[in-house]
Amino acid sequence: MDKRPIGVFDSGMGGLTVVKEIRRLMPNESIIYFGDTGRVPYGNRGTDTIIKYVKQDINFLKSNDIKAIVVACGTASAVALPAINDSDVPIIGVVEPTAQYALDTTKNGKIGIIGTTATINSGMYQSLLSAKNGITVYEKACPLFVPLAENGYSNSEVARIVAKDYLWDLKEKGVDTLILGCTHYPLLKNAIKDIMGDGVTLINCGLPTANYLLKTLKENDCLSDGTPAHKYYVSDMTDEFVSLARTFLGDGVDIEKTDINNY
Ligand code: DGL
Repeated sequence: MDKRPIGVFDSGMGGLTVVKEIRRLMPNESIIYFGDTGRVPYGNRGTDTIIKYVKQDINFLKSNDIKAIVVACGTASAVALPAINDSDVPIIGVVEPTAQYALDTTKNGKIGIIGTTATINSGMYQSLLSAKNGITVYEKACPLFVPLAENGYSNSEVARIVAKDYLWDLKEKGVDTLILGCTHYPLLKNAIKDIMGDGVTLINCGLPTANYLLKTLKENDCLSDGTPAHKYYVSDMTDEFVSLARTFLGDGVDIEKTDINNY
């Protein structure tokens, strides 16, 4: 039994899509979330910068006495985690659990992956999936999706036009499973679904990652049975973050600004 909170971070608001699943599956767990809203997006930056940001994000969460960290960001998981040797607390990324979920889902073996430029360039999903027999992987970087989500354009006509431009090729390839490899992308799921159609299963990182976290906490005997308390931190108090956090998590959500450069 361990009542300490779980630390969760993302470059911005996308990680809230993972928090939602964690809260649903583990209602007794407390969460400390950090959204790096002052430096989003990570996905078009160089590897060194992403690693530097991710180390600061982890240091910030660790300063809050957390029992595990969830990297609720596809870019940070794919680009920075392989370079981080930190064994103080379990650190769970989104890539492996999501790749496994896609393998368990596909029927025709054709899996599409969309993500930020950095995630696609990392080749991490590609190498995990294409190592399996009978699997063909098609990838596409969709860099405009994150600014659309962060600026409140997830359900707009612009989002639909951009989605069509990015996704028609994957649709033509006949994928039956599409990994939303960036945690912001579930916010654009209507636009993505409109293009891909009902025959394609969209895989969010949230559920497989939350399942993996649950398994890890159980194995380490550190689930909580207490009353949860959640706290949300950002590096910039943006209206969009506040509004999405309220929509996702309720009006009482407790959000505070922190200076990430101190970590
Ligand atoms: N949510 C992040 C991800 O999953 C957004 C990436 C970004 O900041 O560019 O990759």
